[in-house]
Amino acid sequence: MSEFAVRESWLPFCLPDISEAEVEAVGEVVRSGWWAKGPRTIEFEKKFAEYVGAKHCVAVNSCTAALHLALLSQGIGPGDEVITTPLTFASTANTILHLGATPVFADIDPETGLIDPDEIERKITSRTRAVVPVHYSGLAADLGRIGEICQAHDLFLSEDAAHAVETRYNGELIGHHPRGAVSYSFYATKNLACGEGGALVTDDDDIAQKARVLSCHGMSAGAWNRYGKEGSWRYDIEEPGYKYNMFDIQAALALTQLARMDDMQRRRFEAVDVYEQAFAGVPELILQKTPAYCHHSRHLYILRIDPQRLTISRDQFIEELKARNVGVSVHFIALHTMSAYVKRFGYRPEDFPKAYAFSESEISLPMYSTLGVENARYVADAVLDIVARHRR
Ligand SMILES: Cc1ncc(COP(=O)(O)O)c(C=O)c1O
Repeated sequence: MSEFAVRESWLPFCLPDISEAEVEAVGEVVRSGWWAKGPRTIEFEKKFAEYVGAKHCVAVNSCTAALHLALLSQGIGPGDEVITTPLTFASTANTILHLGATPVFADIDPETGLIDPDEIERKITSRTRAVVPVHYSGLAADLGRIGEICQAHDLFLSEDAAHAVETRYNGELIGHHPRGAVSYSFYATKNLACGEGGALVTDDDDIAQKARVLSCHGMSAGAWNRYGKEGSWRYDIEEPGYKYNMFDIQAALALTQLARMDDMQRRRFEAVDVYEQAFAGVPELILQKTPAYCHHSRHLYILRIDPQRLTISRDQFIEELKARNVGVSVHFIALHTMSAYVKRFGYRPEDFPKAYAFSESEISLPMYSTLGVENARYVADAVLDIVARHRR
């Protein structure tokens, strides 16, 4: 086998897509003198709500904040159970714990990595108050089935859409006429990025009002403008809230990225095509299935290796990719195996066997709009080279 020609520079796992428009937009806000929550944030809320087709958008400083506010709006607290997936980032379940409620994990469908609706049904008790499905990697969770389950059992549906800007369910964007609340992330690595940021989207006036007030210390609406000529210095604290609001420098970035979404997604899909063609029919590699109802946002490119067919482990596979100057990641280290959850709930890895097996065989390949077809080809060749050298 001939030597693999290793590229000279490190290929990052992820990079934000920066154009002059972002630089200009931030400069404009900086020069305007209004750096905190203000007109740009209000504009972003309006435009993002229009974009997804929802009645309200409350812009916040992270998806974590949005997830917390969504459950807070329902008064969820001690004694309550909230069902979610173990194949997720810590925020999804941490926010349940922050409220004094108990996260209850439901295992996944190994073909997609999405929470399995049958498992949700199995986990419902008299204490269950809500379900938090994750639109994992940019695939839509089975909202039809999950929506029916929530309706039948009177449960609140709080969608974790951190990966799901541009994800569609039955042809419509996630967040279009939401059944409960939908929480997005605009963290630096996301399809729409503003460094740190998030949004809660809902059609429900009451949820929107509560989230808006609680996101800004519990101050009465409009208090952000209390220093402006049209604003009033007098405000009330309706509830002891949180400091969760987005501010205008973030919003300037988010507005610019929103306007560039189509172009950024097109380039993301060019890279996806390279991977999909290269890996099709390679028995050592397991590709993620996209359910028929779903349009994938391709936030992440999920690859799994079949450990039975290779002489190296997943961790060694990652080291081989690093040796070829390719940055990768894992989404996710199953949350029930993290120390805090093991200590608190006594979980063993095999308690959620599908999520654990998925997590242990997964590698997230570089996936971003500026990756480019040539870099994607390089990554695909590196993966295929490792497979060829280590097949059983
Ligand atoms: C599934 C999931 N939920 C929630 C979050 C939290 O997002 P944020 O960093 O905006 O709080 C992340 C972060 O990447 C995530 O992957």
